[in-house]
Amino acid sequence: MTATVRDYSLTGVESTRAVERGLANGQWFQADIEPDRLRELSVRQNLRPGIDLVLWLALIVASGAFAWSQRGSWWAVPGFFVYGTLVGGSTDARWHEHGHGTAFRSQWLNDLVYYPASFMLAREATYWRWSHFRHHTDTIIVGRDAEIIFPRPPSVAKLAWLFTHLEGGSGLIRTTVKHALGQSDDNIDVLVPESERGRVFLEARIYVAIWVATIVWAIATRSLYPLLLIGGPTFYGAWLVLFFGVTQHAGLREDELDHRRSTRTVLVNPVFRFLYLNMNYHVEHHMFPAVPYYNLPELHGEIREQLAEPKPGMISAYKEIFYAFREQAKDPSWELPRHIPDVPGWRGPIVQGFEWAGDSSVDGWTDLGPADLASGAMRPVDVGDAKLLLACTDTGDVVLVDRICTHGDADLATGTILGCEIECPKHNGRFDLRTGEGTRRPIQTALMTYTVRTRNGRLETHIAASGSAANGEER
Ligand code: FES
Repeated sequence: MTATVRDYSLTGVESTRAVERGLANGQWFQADIEPDRLRELSVRQNLRPGIDLVLWLALIVASGAFAWSQRGSWWAVPGFFVYGTLVGGSTDARWHEHGHGTAFRSQWLNDLVYYPASFMLAREATYWRWSHFRHHTDTIIVGRDAEIIFPRPPSVAKLAWLFTHLEGGSGLIRTTVKHALGQSDDNIDVLVPESERGRVFLEARIYVAIWVATIVWAIATRSLYPLLLIGGPTFYGAWLVLFFGVTQHAGLREDELDHRRSTRTVLVNPVFRFLYLNMNYHVEHHMFPAVPYYNLPELHGEIREQLAEPKPGMISAYKEIFYAFREQAKDPSWELPRHIPDVPGWRGPIVQGFEWAGDSSVDGWTDLGPADLASGAMRPVDVGDAKLLLACTDTGDVVLVDRICTHGDADLATGTILGCEIECPKHNGRFDLRTGEGTRRPIQTALMTYTVRTRNGRLETHIAASGSAANGEER
């Protein structure tokens, strides 16, 4: 049979088809979990990720120092191998988790790790952030997701070639140089809002400047060692990115709105879990991206009965991938048999409906229920057609805002309150609850905020909105 090759670009026929079929920004299955428990699991801290970060940095510094001190000796080979694997391989999980903003409670600490990690992987920080938002919106949807690594028909030979990262790494460098020269491309045009494109070009120039400085250093010292230290690990350490990353989606279904069919969870040992920051719980991560990596094992325990059986180890995962690749090479439409428990899925937050008093209220104020919200608590309310969210910030301010995220159609009632902000459960975008302003990408448009007051132990809202501000284009 002649294999049909689909168009995996973001601007081709499959992109249009995905929209027509309702696969773009679709409604995904979510396992059922108590909202309070999910909120508990979404709580961030600084201590645990801080310890992990310090340990990881110490390993990099120690292996790098050892490798450098052994220049000219064969001991430099294992030294650089370990160093390169940590820098060019294990950085991927750090890049990913801190890019989501879910590792540290303090956002600046997430950014502090995200930007250097992006450089270490030769991934332009802003472009890849937006690409990853899309990956979460349209996971493995052909024509929508720019992070599909195995277009069908796949092949084991291609998988082996990918592990060298020669093609992938040089592609990243070529693209970065192009952007440094101010040239855009389809992916930027589709994924990155206009207001952010300047950052892409600036970051590309910074990357190229560091690479050029390293090459000059290598030429001046007539030595390849500087390149093994900076830039080189992107290539020779990337095998670890592939080793873990391939298991996430390879061989599983495309064009599917259920992560249990398109994504794989693999149970691995504690060393791998440290290197990979628990991203082996990949189905769980995709279903609930607001849960930080250190809580994913617990989340797995909560919902595992509702998921497909996880693979018991990397060998088992690769056996399944090889099997799928062999079959899909013959027939690209072939799918792995996968037992998915028949469960109803996410019930959503319990919405407490209140009669919209509207014009019938004497003074224009509508009752929203008892004023019993504790700090960090939320209460979704439907007032007529309006889906609203009452929330109490950590400082005790009770606010009323629109409940549907302005970036996508996610329900903020399943999000997380962090101080005076709320984080969207879908792409970890954030809003300031007091003003509605977006405070974290990908939010480009503010939330509507409404007047709310307390009277006689009840919360009430006025009909008129108290404010809204559009601050950019929506993606
Ligand atoms: S839907 Fe994307 S941040 Fe809310």
